[in-house]
Amino acid sequence: MERIFILGAGAMAEAFIKGVVSQHLIEPQRIRVLNRQRPERLRALNDLYGVTPAESVREARDADVIVLAVKPYDVKEACQSLTPYLDGQTIISFAAGIPIRFMQEATGGRAQIVRTMPNVPVAVLEGAIALSAAPDVDGDRIDQAKTLLSKLGTVVELEESMMDAATAFSGSGPGFVSFFLEAMELAAVDLGFSAEMARSLLIQTVVGTAKVLEEWGLSPTELRERVTSPNGTTHAGLTILSERNVQQAIADALRQAQLRSVEMGTEYTEPSEA
Ligand SMILES: NC(=O)c1ccc[n+]([C@@H]2O[C@H](COP(=O)([O-])OP(=O)(O)OC[C@H]3O[C@@H](n4cnc5c(N)ncnc54)[C@H](OP(=O)(O)O)[C@@H]3O)[C@@H](O)[C@H]2O)c1
Repeated sequence: MERIFILGAGAMAEAFIKGVVSQHLIEPQRIRVLNRQRPERLRALNDLYGVTPAESVREARDADVIVLAVKPYDVKEACQSLTPYLDGQTIISFAAGIPIRFMQEATGGRAQIVRTMPNVPVAVLEGAIALSAAPDVDGDRIDQAKTLLSKLGTVVELEESMMDAATAFSGSGPGFVSFFLEAMELAAVDLGFSAEMARSLLIQTVVGTAKVLEEWGLSPTELRERVTSPNGTTHAGLTILSERNVQQAIADALRQAQLRSVEMGTEYTEPSEA
C-alpha cells in the first residue's frame, strides 16, 4: 500500500493511526490526515505518530485507501468534498449507522466502499470490528481493509443487513458490560471492599475471565458450568440472577439497541433540506 488519507482526526482516527503505525504496516509519513478546523490537532498527531498533516482534501487523490473518520452527521458533506478527487480508491468508513448505498450516492459511485463498525477498545488495539463491503468491492481491497483493521482488534465480515445488529452487540457491548461491572463494583463496596480494592479485583476478574474463554476455547456456558458447584456460592448468586430474568433483560436491551441503530441510520441519511 502506498498512501492512506484520513478524513477526520478524532478519537477513531487516532486509534487507527496508532494501530497501523505501531505494527509498521506503512511508513507514518505516507499517512495524511485532515480535519476541519483544528490544525493543532494535526500537529499533535504528527508529533505523536509522525503522520503528515494534509493541507487539503485534494491530497486524497494520491491515496489508495481513504479512511472516513468523521461523525455520522458529517458523512454526507465529507463524501461530497472528497468526490472530485476520487477515482476508484477504497473508502473505509467508521461512521456508525451510515449505509453503503448512502456513501456510494454521496460520492457519485467513484469509490469502493467498505463500511465498518468498530468499538471503543480499538483505542487500546483490542477492538471488535464488524466490516461489510459493497458488492462491487474487489476481494483484494476487502483483504487489504481487513489487514489494516486487524491491527486494531478482531475483524468479522458480515452482510450489511447485520450491521445494526453488530452496532447493538459489539458496538454497544462495552457499555452493557460496563453497566454490569458498575453494579458488581457497587455491590463489592457494599460488602466491605475499599473502592480501590474493588476496582482492582473487578478489572482482573473480567480480564481473567475473557482470557480463560479465549485461551481454553470454552463457551461462556461451559465456563459458567465449570465454576458453579451444586449449592455453592456461584450457584447461590446465579439463582438470584435467573429468578430476576436477567437473561431476558439482556436480550431485550440488545434488541432495543438494534432498533435504535436502524432509526439513527434513517435520521442521519434523510435529506436535510426537504
Ligand atoms: N469513538 C469511538 O469509539 C467510535 C466507535 C465506533 C464508531 N465510531 C465512529 O467513528 C467516527 C468518528 O468518531 P470519533 O469519535 O473519532 O469522532 P471525533 O473525535 O468527533 O472526530 C471527528 C473528526 O472529524 C473531523 N471532521 C468533521 N467533519 C469533517 C469534514 N467535513 N472534513 C474533514 N474533517 C471533518 C473533525 O474535525 P474538527 O475537530 O476540526 O471539526 C474531527 O477531527 C464516527 O462516525 C463514529 O460513529 C467511533
